[in-house]
Amino acid sequence: MKELAWSDILSVSVEEIDEDHRKLLHIFNILNHAVADRESAEYVAAVLDELINCTVWHFSHEERLMLKYGYGGTEEHKAQHRRLLDSVRELQKGILQAQGRVSDEDIEFLERWLAEHILTADMRLGSYLSRAM
Ligand SMILES: [Fe+2]
Repeated sequence: MKELAWSDILSVSVEEIDEDHRKLLHIFNILNHAVADRESAEYVAAVLDELINCTVWHFSHEERLMLKYGYGGTEEHKAQHRRLLDSVRELQKGILQAQGRVSDEDIEFLERWLAEHILTADMRLGSYLSRAM
């Protein structure tokens, strides 16, 4: 089982955003443990709900900061948020249909999904905000 650890490489230089990302990584690890421990489908679904809800909240948080500090890349970033949410909801649907079975591919997908979000769009946003805030 792969545990994702926070490291400075993941920092976007804005503490309140880093804090959200640490929380997302934490929930991802809970999911990983749930799969390794063969928890019930109901429990896995609950963890996925928590991950999605936390992501929705986190995206709203970022979008508020973009608005407050007049970030130029807002529309593009919001479009990425929508795509990321669509893809994780799609994944959740597949897992529910598979009675809570989470495959190695699903875990890899989620890992890439988190990394893509943090390391691309958020790095640009972070470097803007750390100067503007
Ligand atoms: Fe983010």
